[in-house]
Amino acid sequence: MTARVNTVAFQGIDVKPVDVQVQIAGGLPAFNIVGLPDKAVAESKERVRAALSSLGLSLPPKRLTVNLAPADLGKEGSHYDLPIALGLLAAMEIIPKEELAEYLVLGELSLDASIRPVAGVLPAAMHAGANDNRLICPEGCGREAAWAGDLDILAPRNLLQLINHIKGTQLLSRPEARLDGEETHKGPDLSEVRGQESAKRALEIAAAGGHNMLMSGPPGSGKSMLAACLPGILPPLSPREALEVSMIHSLAGTLPEGGLLKRRAFRDPHHSASLPALIGGGHRVRPGEISLAHNGVLFLDELPEFNRSTLESLRQPLETGEALVARANAHVTFPARFQLIAAMNPCRCGHLGDSDLECSKAPRCASDYQAKISGPMLDRIDIQVDVPAVRASDLSGPPGESSAAVAERIARVRQIQAERFARYEGCTIRVNAHANGKILEEIAMPDEEAKILLNKTMENAKLSARGYFRLLRLARTIADLEGAARDSIADRIGKAHIAEALSYRRIALD
Ligand SMILES: Nc1ncnc2c1ncn2[C@@H]1O[C@H](COP(=O)(O)OP(=O)(O)O)[C@@H](O)[C@H]1O
Ligand SMILES: [Mg+2]
Repeated sequence: MTARVNTVAFQGIDVKPVDVQVQIAGGLPAFNIVGLPDKAVAESKERVRAALSSLGLSLPPKRLTVNLAPADLGKEGSHYDLPIALGLLAAMEIIPKEELAEYLVLGELSLDASIRPVAGVLPAAMHAGANDNRLICPEGCGREAAWAGDLDILAPRNLLQLINHIKGTQLLSRPEARLDGEETHKGPDLSEVRGQESAKRALEIAAAGGHNMLMSGPPGSGKSMLAACLPGILPPLSPREALEVSMIHSLAGTLPEGGLLKRRAFRDPHHSASLPALIGGGHRVRPGEISLAHNGVLFLDELPEFNRSTLESLRQPLETGEALVARANAHVTFPARFQLIAAMNPCRCGHLGDSDLECSKAPRCASDYQAKISGPMLDRIDIQVDVPAVRASDLSGPPGESSAAVAERIARVRQIQAERFARYEGCTIRVNAHANGKILEEIAMPDEEAKILLNKTMENAKLSARGYFRLLRLARTIADLEGAARDSIADRIGKAHIAEALSYRRIALD
């Protein structure tokens, strides 16, 4: 007696169909799972046996074989429990086999036959929808799955509910995709940051155009505080962006129970974070911090304290917007288009340039400390600003502009960019920071005066080609910010825009 149930395996963000085949045959009693199961999948048989026995069902004393096809694809995770249990129930003729054919099933079983939430339900639901399948997932993931579209979804709390539904004795209703009230931003408000006007301006430009930014300054000047203000001024995710990030968070098992993420992610891993934690990978391939920060912000505080090779591994994702994890038998990719915000002290003691406070090793210690960040890495950071110590007069002064007011301006500039890029067919770029090559040259054409300044800079400052384009991108955002304030967007970039962009090129001491 053989039964089949559809489920999936995950390879990065990709969903691969997996066929669970269950056979009950004569012979000595045995229960085997084959098809490259990892430990969690192999242990599945104990959970399935216990769950069935809690319903008063015992497995037949025969030879039970579960094959997870295709046999050469590794199966990881605990979501195979439910498809295996359903396959067994069908093979035991407790539920009709034909009913199962059109479902895609995933869920973990407890010993008491309740169905526990698993990772990856959203991408699995999208896959089911695209293949005209229906979906069976744990109750706790139902609302997440409902975002995948109008496919049929069953989200039972336990195995008994599911059996009753399939037999038609107690029907389950489809879970609803519902957005809970707007999540409020918990970080500080920009008005709480006193002084630091130029750093605030740089932060606004970074937020407006999605540019990477590095802040350098003495301890206690407000670098971490400024970074924490960023989520409060960034626009909410568009529905498409929300779906993209939510898929990644679903695979990592970090999606809130309500379903989609609404705000841009702000990930701030500690400097002791390992390479797999940051880029992704590990025993079970999990998206790393840079993927969890997709469409959002990755904040690296105390940048030089990070392991050097960990930092260098960020270079490729910064360029391609993807995290590539090499596995023994396959390459796995996760989207990782994040905005990098970094902060550092100028030297180990942090007081370089302050004759009262700096240590005796200055300025040599500073060059050692800063050399931990490689040139190619710095070349990928559009904005580099100094955040000097706060003056007493600034601290007692009136509060500055609130996050809400700045957020409004940024939303307008983001809108301008979205409309501009929408003119290019098939263009997935949404912010200036990602514009490159031909599109960048078209959207960021300098006027005559600006051209002269640019050429002079190219000659004097030995700008790399990447540095040149970085300058253009930044100048485009500065021009957009100005245009949004005046309600007339200049097509061409002026000299003032280039000059301001140039001022964010290199932090002091160089
Ligand atoms: N410019 C500032 N305006 C108001 N408070 C500040 C400012 N800079 C620092 N602070 C106060 O000092 C604390 C530490 O600042 P922090 O941002 O962590 O400094 P840094 O990261 O530059 O070392 C903040 O939580 C805040 O209370
Ligand atoms: Mg800090």
